[in-house]
Amino acid sequence: MKNIEKKIEELRKEIEYHNYRYYVLDDPEISDLEYDNLFNELRELEEKYPEFKSPHSPTQKIGGPPLKEFKQRPHSIPMYSLDNVFSDQEWEEYVSRIQKFLPGEDIEFWVDPKLDGLAIELIYENGKYLGAATRGDGFVGEDVTENVRTIKNIPLRLRQLTNLPDFIEIRGEVVISKQDFLKLNRKQIEQGTKPFANPRNAAAGSIRQLDPKITASRPLKFFAYGIGIIRWEKNTNVYFSTQSQIMELLFELGLNIVPQAKLCLSKQEVIEYFHFLDMKREDFQYEIDGVVVKVNSLEQQKRLGATARSPRWAIAIKFRAEQAETRLKDIVVQVGRTGVLTPVAILDPVEIGGAMVKRATLHNFDEIFAKELKIGDIVLVQRAGNVIPEVIRPIKEKRTGEEKDPVLPKRCPVCGSKVVKLKDEVYYRCINASCPARLKRGLMHFVSKAGLDIHGLGQSWIETFVDKGIVKDFADLFLLKKQDIIHLDRMGDKLAENMINAIAEAKERASLDKFISALGIRLVGEQTANTLAKEFKTLDNLSNASIEQLIQIKDIGKEVAASIYSFFRTPENKALLNKFKDIGLWPILKEKQYHHEKESKIKDKTFVFTGKLESMSRNRAKEIVERAGGRVVNSISKKVDYVVVGHEPGSKLKKAQKIGIKTISEQEFIRLLTQ
Ligand code: IVH
Repeated sequence: MKNIEKKIEELRKEIEYHNYRYYVLDDPEISDLEYDNLFNELRELEEKYPEFKSPHSPTQKIGGPPLKEFKQRPHSIPMYSLDNVFSDQEWEEYVSRIQKFLPGEDIEFWVDPKLDGLAIELIYENGKYLGAATRGDGFVGEDVTENVRTIKNIPLRLRQLTNLPDFIEIRGEVVISKQDFLKLNRKQIEQGTKPFANPRNAAAGSIRQLDPKITASRPLKFFAYGIGIIRWEKNTNVYFSTQSQIMELLFELGLNIVPQAKLCLSKQEVIEYFHFLDMKREDFQYEIDGVVVKVNSLEQQKRLGATARSPRWAIAIKFRAEQAETRLKDIVVQVGRTGVLTPVAILDPVEIGGAMVKRATLHNFDEIFAKELKIGDIVLVQRAGNVIPEVIRPIKEKRTGEEKDPVLPKRCPVCGSKVVKLKDEVYYRCINASCPARLKRGLMHFVSKAGLDIHGLGQSWIETFVDKGIVKDFADLFLLKKQDIIHLDRMGDKLAENMINAIAEAKERASLDKFISALGIRLVGEQTANTLAKEFKTLDNLSNASIEQLIQIKDIGKEVAASIYSFFRTPENKALLNKFKDIGLWPILKEKQYHHEKESKIKDKTFVFTGKLESMSRNRAKEIVERAGGRVVNSISKKVDYVVVGHEPGSKLKKAQKIGIKTISEQEFIRLLTQ
């Protein structure tokens, strides 16, 4: 019996050694066949003599029975996260900050590549694997003991040192190499399961599997970068004082440590190494997203301490990634206020330049087809500066055949009405004016600064009002009474009152240009609205304007003119405008808007009017001219500067033409007033 136990132990040691050669050193000494023979021999013995079974036998790396759930596992020392810096300058600033805590002292830095995987803590007692936990929120992680046990390069027994710690927590990153990731995805697809977006997701997904046998089948690797608690019961003469010594210890204990680490003696050396790794990045077997820099001296680390979130003695310098690859999970369709359907990419969340990106614009459907995007594709996403993230292109080499063609929406995803595409336009539109999506967006614009600037009416209230049917069009806002809204969730007496007051106040304040802008006429922004207000002075004038009249106006082209013209001829809009009129929200151009110009253009000028004016009465016109310092006379003479020609002009027009006096249309007259 003793002999069998001894034999088993010998086999285990031998297999552990070969595991170490193969998985840690990547330098096997024996063939796969020889290894398999040893392994099978051990397994048979353990089966025959179950009394000698051990959770630390190499046979236990194949994965036990599935779990129901992961238990929580607190960390004895918090697993902090790291602060990030993104440039040479920010790195310098960081060094200046910590130098203040260590005045006049030299600082050495330990620089590791920052592996993009999942942080894990391993726990060993008396050299034996006791368990493992994910980082979780830094304080409590998930107990992933059984899964982590299956990772090939993690020893179930540490290599025997003379000074083996009695207890040690080893921290590091679980990763999948780029190459293994591609292989794994191919396998996933063959088996009809969903491929992973990137190696990090694959690593994390593999660890968070309830069935350890699945984890065992995944090409996971662990790289140590630090320790938690470390303890020797009997006081030995082990002594270490630097991060580099910790790394040495971890290596001697039989672990892979983060490769390509470097001890740097100055901050310049650190940033140079950072740029060097950035250049070499593509050649790495594993995905890295920057470097982790640690103050090498543990004593200095101790004095630097930590903030609530992260240690001061370590920092990540991130590669500037403006682009990243991720999976295009889906394409959803958003309905804008003018009814334009915009396709939006739903992405597997990916960090780009320090921000998590989950959605990106696809601009329009033509572009989706031009880029040949498919749902399920791995795509290149760009986020440059503060612009909205966009999908650049699919990575066609990563296609699996499982990708699906995007479909053009035939109906509005919100109201279900038919979608149309105007000729010469790339956009598909929902033309149902009462589509709730359009109404919500339209209202958001209506109350925004570009519109009537109604304070306190945010997106969520607008959504509530529309969803509850309290507001069915823009004008309904002004019919709201306190009792209509006071019963709503999160609405109080005071809030309701403030809101009603803000709406009433906005109504009083509404100027013609803001009102036109608020209507959200396609292609009419604040600038054009301003021009239109000055040009037409009243909504009646504007709504009756012909395309010809509109095109005459500077800065208004054919397309804009057509859009304005059709807006005022759409029955829903006509009804809306009538409603506004009834409510008394019917702004006209306020005089002060053309106060200063009147001086130069009209002052001391003499006007004659002939024919009927559309936008104002003759008396009103006279009043305006006179207020602006001009004169209005009744008969034509050489002293007259302008003859304003209205509808059905009389003989004055002919006379003016005869003696060569400048004639202008009503529009031109208004332009003189308001320019
Ligand atoms: S040291 C207090 N070293 O980065 C220092 N972390 O943002 C703790 N990581 O959760 C971390 N490679 O998952 C360290 N060489 C490395 C690393 C590394 C990747 C991850 C780790 C950590 C995260 C912090």
